[in-house]
Amino acid sequence: ARHHSIAVLPGDGIGPEVVAEAVKVLDAVTAPAGVTLERTEYPLGARHWLETGEVLNEDTMAALGRHEAILFGAVGAAPDDERVPSGMLERDLLLKLRFGFDHYINLRPATLYPGTTSPLSDPGEIDFVVVREGTEGLYAGHGGTLRTGTEHEIATEVSVNTGHGVRRLVRYAFELARSRPRRKLTLVHKHNVLVHAGRLYQRTVDEVAEQYPDVTVDYMHVDAATIFMTTDPARFDVIVTDNLFGDILTDQAGAVTGGIGLAPSGNINAERTHPSMFEPVHGSAPDIAGTGTAQPTAAILAGAMMLEHLGHPGLAARVQRAVRRDLELRGTRARGTAQVGDDVVAQLGAPGA
Ligand code: NAD
Ligand code: IPM
Ligand code: MN
Repeated sequence: ARHHSIAVLPGDGIGPEVVAEAVKVLDAVTAPAGVTLERTEYPLGARHWLETGEVLNEDTMAALGRHEAILFGAVGAAPDDERVPSGMLERDLLLKLRFGFDHYINLRPATLYPGTTSPLSDPGEIDFVVVREGTEGLYAGHGGTLRTGTEHEIATEVSVNTGHGVRRLVRYAFELARSRPRRKLTLVHKHNVLVHAGRLYQRTVDEVAEQYPDVTVDYMHVDAATIFMTTDPARFDVIVTDNLFGDILTDQAGAVTGGIGLAPSGNINAERTHPSMFEPVHGSAPDIAGTGTAQPTAAILAGAMMLEHLGHPGLAARVQRAVRRDLELRGTRARGTAQVGDDVVAQLGAPGA
């Protein structure tokens, strides 16, 4: 299709700042191709909650569900903002969308672009993808507290992992690994301690691996994975892992590939029963919000992932090439947020783009 209905949720903090640049680039790449992204903006987040007392009601959820895709900035109030209960927006908005729209694949590519400075002295060629589970694990919200505030308080968080959930995740990861030149898949877990979930993950990988003899499979405990992510990230190709491990590893992956401001993600419903959602890996960054210095590259690359999902891989590749050339020319040196957007747009029109 050439016409798509998109929901835009800029959110809080730097969310609106980086989403504006993603939209700028999306408009610049789609218009000449005769593709239109009809955007509906939903001003959800801290301000909306303060004004209305609502985070995300069922009508809005239903309206969002009628779009083909969602472009998301970030939510979360500043830690010293006592008006907004801690974690409420994250759980009742972001996680509600991921769970409600069954975003079981949280796809998080990590690429070290030429011109980008990694904090590692000898990073090698970093190009891997984390396939993070998106709807289960410790994020399921199961648990509770007993004897609150007493010496004998007990707090539990229960990790929920289903055969169905793990199988569809692992299958997706194998398909992705098969499509990439190195055809390598690493399961990251902690099955030496988390035996129940660990066994389910390992057994599922072993079973599915039989259908993918062309894919090399290995396993790493998550603590060791953080070592190799620092000492030899080039060894990774496709990592498949659970919700929380994937959260932590992808912030680290962002850091080693030149900064969290470059790392995009897609919350994918591969069956397309609900809209998929594209967002930077980073949060609302209250420490730099309003300064005009947030890097919009992650949001721009998330926009490219959205174009790919909408069936425009050529346009997605053009955006990725423009970002690559922009980073090659200017690296991640301090530039205003809007300047980066303008520079990426300029690269779209450069010869060879
Ligand atoms: P964060 O990702 O917002 O910020 C971590 C650090 O990275 C900060 O120093 C920040 O300035 C920097 N940073 C982040 N994005 C950047 C960018 N584009 N350019 C330059 N620097 C950037 O993580 P945090 O501080 O742990 O969380 C802040 C708030 O965001 C919290 O409320 C948290 O719950 C929320 N959060 C939301 C999302 C989301 O909506 N997807 C993701 C992560 C955190
Ligand atoms: C992310 C964020 C979210 C997560 C939070 C804000 C709920 O850290 O998208 O990585 O933990 O998934
Ligand atoms: Mn995170």
